[in-house]
Amino acid sequence: MRINKYIAASGIASRRKADEMIAAGRVRVNGAVMTSPGCDIQPGDVVMVDGKPLPAAEKTCWYALNKPAGCVTTLSDDKGRPTVMQFLADVEVRVYPVGRLDYDTSGLLLLTNDGDMASRIADPKQKIKKTYMARIGGRLTKEHLAELRNGIEIELPVKNAESGAVRKYKTKPAEVNVIEENASQSLVEITISEGKNRQVRRMFAAAGHRVLQLERTAIGNIRLGRTRPGTCRRLTDAEIEGLKKLLI
Ligand code: URA
Repeated sequence: MRINKYIAASGIASRRKADEMIAAGRVRVNGAVMTSPGCDIQPGDVVMVDGKPLPAAEKTCWYALNKPAGCVTTLSDDKGRPTVMQFLADVEVRVYPVGRLDYDTSGLLLLTNDGDMASRIADPKQKIKKTYMARIGGRLTKEHLAELRNGIEIELPVKNAESGAVRKYKTKPAEVNVIEENASQSLVEITISEGKNRQVRRMFAAAGHRVLQLERTAIGNIRLGRTRPGTCRRLTDAEIEGLKKLLI
């Protein structure tokens, strides 16, 4: 990792400030003063600023991105579609998406460099609640609302099957509230504690409704809030602590 990025990742300075520190001769790598911002840090290198060692491990950081629809949550895409990486230009640290959102879903996407905790949060065994706001075609009947709440049979693709084979799956209980409705559309808030492929869309499809728009508004204790699509904010320490407390 570039030395300025390494210093920034430790949390003591921005990349620009780190460049200034380097130019001022305040940074040593393995005892030697380092004045080139292009120097790469290798595992095991000891970096000191003003005679004090930086922590060898990257400081872990967490971000909440308001993902717009029309981009993928992977770091690159073999179909050449835009990825969420375009919204992370100001993030100094290399962070990775926690779980995923569909190309056409917007809303809260967590990103972190804490790989261990990211995989625990994304692990379905943790049953972390995720809330979505879905705009659907038509109006839900009482029966379908009850089915969505208690468990509805959806079709899931069979892994590694080339034939497009599907299997039946009954969803776990969900919290479902109709926020607004008229004859042509309804706005429905749905909270699930599992994360099967395109689960929310499949649940509404099983009830006979098309999802017109889908936005994730919360993951556990983390709320999307009023951020603009394409913007990213750092989680507070209290939010990160709250997330950790959800893990079993
Ligand atoms: N459910 C969906 O259908 N899509 C998502 O992106 C997330 C949950």
